[in-house]
Amino acid sequence: MRIAMIGSGYVGLVSGACFADFGHDVVCVDNDPKKIEALEAGRMPIYEPGLEALVADNVRQKRLSFTTDLKPAVAGADAVFIAVGTPSRRGDGFADLSYVYAAAREIAQAVTGYTVVVTKSTVPVGTGDEVERIIREARPDAEVGVASNPEFLREGAAIGDFKRPDRIVIGAEDERAAAVMQEVYRPLYLNAAPIIVTGRRTAELTKYAANAFLATKITFINEIADLCERVGANVQEVARGIGLDNRIGSKFLHAGPGYGGSCFPKDTLALVKTAQDYATPIRIVETVVSVNDQRKRAMARKVVAAAGGSVRGKTVALLGLTFKPDTDDMRDAPSLSIIAGLQDGGAKVVAYDPEGIEQARPLLEGVTYADDAYSCASGADILVIVTEWSAFRALDLPRLKTLMNAPVLVDLRNVYSPTDAVKHGFQYVGIGTTPSNG
Ligand code: UDX
Repeated sequence: MRIAMIGSGYVGLVSGACFADFGHDVVCVDNDPKKIEALEAGRMPIYEPGLEALVADNVRQKRLSFTTDLKPAVAGADAVFIAVGTPSRRGDGFADLSYVYAAAREIAQAVTGYTVVVTKSTVPVGTGDEVERIIREARPDAEVGVASNPEFLREGAAIGDFKRPDRIVIGAEDERAAAVMQEVYRPLYLNAAPIIVTGRRTAELTKYAANAFLATKITFINEIADLCERVGANVQEVARGIGLDNRIGSKFLHAGPGYGGSCFPKDTLALVKTAQDYATPIRIVETVVSVNDQRKRAMARKVVAAAGGSVRGKTVALLGLTFKPDTDDMRDAPSLSIIAGLQDGGAKVVAYDPEGIEQARPLLEGVTYADDAYSCASGADILVIVTEWSAFRALDLPRLKTLMNAPVLVDLRNVYSPTDAVKHGFQYVGIGTTPSNG
């Protein structure tokens, strides 16, 4: 099949490369010539494990190519995916759909023969209807079906998630469009991936409901963690104790500094807004949004408390800047709020991250960057683990202790056991644990 992917950002690039790997003929389009130039030279605009090799291989096999020229890429395609950005609109938090609609208008002018236009970007309920209206208005003669096919990829694990998905959701309003979409995903039948074919609005809402549910699950365990600290319980054991109940499930029950990233914060806000627009407020998600925002700020206060009530004039070493490991993505990363809070309290912040420093630089002022975890900790009064990169999971605690000015470890991801840390002479503060019960 011939596939055009409009938007070669995170979702477009990963999906395009994976479709090509399944044997489809894929052209990834982007209106940023620098991005296309880089991709043609084999340079990835984002860090995603395995992506560079996958792209190189499929370019070599001539199944994957890149262009800024939408028209020839769309002409003759069986399916055209819209995978452009949908940032939160400033002011009201609603998803900004101008890029999606602009893509729809351009696609309308370029399609030839029967083509399914698919929204892959996360778009509010009803966007597919609007995309269809735009296309029909621009090209009443075009033979087009409009489908919704939300992605559920996790950054850092996106290729595996694409190739072995828990499910594929296809929203289509007619059988012809649904049949093309099933053909697009046919290679995945071999992996026994369940394909759910629904109406378009249902598919659009499914994506938001999935992300809001996961954000709720994280926020729930984060609040239980706070209570654990007060009552002398251990949140990791509570999470295990509830997670083994199949109805609950053990994933997404890691208490931490609050969720961040490109999806959860934006999608929860957009769902809240849609629900309010339809006069059906989803109060549980409204609460999740505000609890999570407050939590990120509260983490700075936690560090201050661990430092004895003030960080003024102290050096805080911070490990992990990105919103999670194995990505260079800094969007809505908890580290941003934590660093701001610490600097407000008069701390000097030294940070290290295996991939995120270049992305972090323009977002942070007055931060010094180190080359590795040990040089970061050197001379520090307090060490804070914000993101659980593998490189921070087996740090040499005795060595850290000798390097630091004072052995205080605030572990916002519960990477270390409190007992171990205390045994090595650290004052240890985790999430949802107390040193005495570790
Ligand atoms: C998420 C969804 O998982 C994915 O299906 C969707 O398509 C896009 O959004 P992603 O943003 O890449 O993916 O990250 P994810 O691994 O889900 O983590 C999101 C945030 O939640 C991170 O800040 C992470 O640290 C946090 N998190 C996750 C927790 O704090 N605890 C957990 O148990 C799980």
